[in-house]
Amino acid sequence: MVLDLPWVEKYRPHSLNDIIGQKLVVERLKSFVERGNFPSMIFAGSPGVGKTACAIAMANDLYKGSLNSAFLELNASDARGIDVIRETVKEFAKTISMAKVPVKIIFLDEADALTSDAQHALRRTMENFPSTRFILSANYASKIIEPIQSRCVVFRFRPLSGEDMRSYVKRIESSEKLDLSEKALEALIYVGDGDLRRLTNVLQSAAMQHRKITDASIYDTAAKARPKEIIAMLNYAITEDFMNARNELDGLMLRNGMSAEDILTQCYKEVQNLNVDERLKLEIIKDIGEYNFRIVEGANERIQLEAMLAGLALAAKRNK
Ligand SMILES: Nc1ncnc2c1ncn2[C@@H]1O[C@H](COP(=O)(O)OP(=O)(O)OP(=O)(O)O)[C@@H](O)[C@H]1O
Ligand SMILES: [Mg+2]
Repeated sequence: MVLDLPWVEKYRPHSLNDIIGQKLVVERLKSFVERGNFPSMIFAGSPGVGKTACAIAMANDLYKGSLNSAFLELNASDARGIDVIRETVKEFAKTISMAKVPVKIIFLDEADALTSDAQHALRRTMENFPSTRFILSANYASKIIEPIQSRCVVFRFRPLSGEDMRSYVKRIESSEKLDLSEKALEALIYVGDGDLRRLTNVLQSAAMQHRKITDASIYDTAAKARPKEIIAMLNYAITEDFMNARNELDGLMLRNGMSAEDILTQCYKEVQNLNVDERLKLEIIKDIGEYNFRIVEGANERIQLEAMLAGLALAAKRNK
């Protein structure tokens, strides 16, 4: 078998023109590229939505062939402290860039992993090198200290929409010559949930088993339940058919190998699709929140999930 490059690398956008969605961000970044000048920036947003991809694509557009001398990527969580970062930044700022654009970029991934002390040290470093710009990537902009935020333009990256995910999958589908049914595509969008990294990885693993991809292979690869399985389990519980609700739960935990947290997250997503009155929906969401907390705190998963199903049955009875 030919060794395949991970598709997240293979399909990493080379230019801002290849970025899907994130329209507002891309427009601004393109205008920065045109001007050849720009401020330091914070890219904030959930995983797999294009923060790193945009930084690299922008640098490619800006520096054309001389990326290496003008763009430095550091990971805040493995650079072993701010001293290492400071030294690396100092060295990099001193080197001469081969690119036509005079400003250089330092891309600092997982910047929200830096302690507040380290961020204060970073702030001073940012001020010492006027010809370098920082792009800080973070899942939560609120974890970046105020003085850094006020020196940066903050861009918020959104989870990709269904349409965006669809066009991304189409790109890979035609290039890899996959045979993807409409149902499989919908499953992929459900499982991807706005995160293109997760979506790409699930698609690649499913494709390794078979070029013809079905919704079943997507759910199995992602270790996710089909929405209808979750709805069936919840429906059994609220109609007080506890044995069947338990059987469904068995199927999810034993057959699909799902964790309790994943099951609860999917239950939470499906509550809105249940055919019950609003009041009961509120009680169900409240229960899911309660049991999610207990599981995160380390209580026995199996017992907690069964207790939740029992709780739903009792809530339904009260609401009759
Ligand atoms: N908006 C997008 N357009 C095109 N491809 C994307 C986009 N977002 C993500 N991707 C694809 O998903 C992969 C992962 O995205 P990326 O590394 O940019 O995520 P991230 O936002 O930096 O996530 P993290 O917070 O985990 O670092 C990329 O290699 C690329 O293939
Ligand atoms: Mg990233």
